[in-house]
Amino acid sequence: MKYNINNKGYYGDFGGAYIPEMLYPNVEELRLNYLKVMQEPSFKEEFNQLLKDYVGRPSPLYFAKRLSKKYNTKIYLKREDLNHTGAHKINNTIGQILMAQRLGKKRIIAETGAGQHGVATATVCALMGMECIVYMGEIDIARQAPNVARMKMLGAKVVPALSGSKTLKDATNEAIRDWINNPVDTHYIIGSVVGPHPYPDMVARFQAVVSEEIQWQLQEKEGKSTPDYVIACVGGGSNAAGAYYHYLENTNVNLIAVEAAGKGVNSGKSAATSALGKEGIIHGSKTLLMQTNDGQITEPYSISAGLDYPGVGPMHAHLFKTGRAEFVSVTDDQAMTAGLELCELEGIIPAIESSHALAVFGHKTFKPDDIVVLSLSGRGDKDLDTYINHFKL
Ligand SMILES: Cc1ncc(COP(=O)(O)O)c(C=O)c1O
Repeated sequence: MKYNINNKGYYGDFGGAYIPEMLYPNVEELRLNYLKVMQEPSFKEEFNQLLKDYVGRPSPLYFAKRLSKKYNTKIYLKREDLNHTGAHKINNTIGQILMAQRLGKKRIIAETGAGQHGVATATVCALMGMECIVYMGEIDIARQAPNVARMKMLGAKVVPALSGSKTLKDATNEAIRDWINNPVDTHYIIGSVVGPHPYPDMVARFQAVVSEEIQWQLQEKEGKSTPDYVIACVGGGSNAAGAYYHYLENTNVNLIAVEAAGKGVNSGKSAATSALGKEGIIHGSKTLLMQTNDGQITEPYSISAGLDYPGVGPMHAHLFKTGRAEFVSVTDDQAMTAGLELCELEGIIPAIESSHALAVFGHKTFKPDDIVVLSLSGRGDKDLDTYINHFKL
């Protein structure tokens, strides 16, 4: 396995578990148990049943006829926006709440940027009757207000992160601090393929259902299970990891990862980690991250709360370094325009994160018979205010 994780918890040079001693028992307990638990027939059965009856899987693979016509290629949208709670994040939180129960945990903490992971966590905690605390940057609380209200309705406590750029990175710091203080009864549901091993691998496995479905859905529609391209936006990288998972080792499938360039890659207001990042350690794993010459993390910026993160998960650092995936940076303006175009051409309002992936069609030319699958990671309800302000609607 060249592109997947090795038995030491690394993707090539990236990954591992760089954690304070206080967290070691928690992370080690998870590392020793996660694969065993995931393989238990009763776990698989409960996970699959909830994905089907509660989340509404399989999510459709939709042939976007008018978008395809405009860009003269064959575009399929993997409709994670149609999942219960409105994004791919719920696939992972269902898996992790079942894991937490099996490990005997009583209290759940999470971080969130766009609020989709917070909502998905609050949802599964309500479903299972567990206490839920969500850390969220103060800026994100303001720009993703509908999701904050949803979390509260679902019974979660939302705690603002007031340090740094007051966004996802800072919320993650607070969640880690909480975990250190509550090492016994608490499970930390990380929302992306980031964090110390085994989180990146565990989250990727829970999200792998996305490419598992793409395989048979494409077989039905195109008579073959492999596309020519898979495109996904990358914050930490979980929707991309899920959409790529079953194609990682098949190099006939081209992978495109889309990052947020904010106001421009070199504007000083960006979250384009592959373009600007260097090797370093963030939130327990060795990966690529944006940092100053003396190793201080650079405050990121993106119009999209879910992509506003100064790093990427170790899988994506490895895909970048090996050239397995092509990394593209998309500005706020380009993403917003692509999002509006999907509304007008297909009647679908995408999350601004997903709009970044859609902007690839304005950057890159595909062949008429290329099969291009794009991960439509979430719906845009949470982003209406940002769209309204941007376009003066
Ligand atoms: C709809 C949506 N897409 C994408 C992301 C980015 O996360 P990831 O890179 O883990 O998929 C988020 C994060 O909040 C999101 O809400």
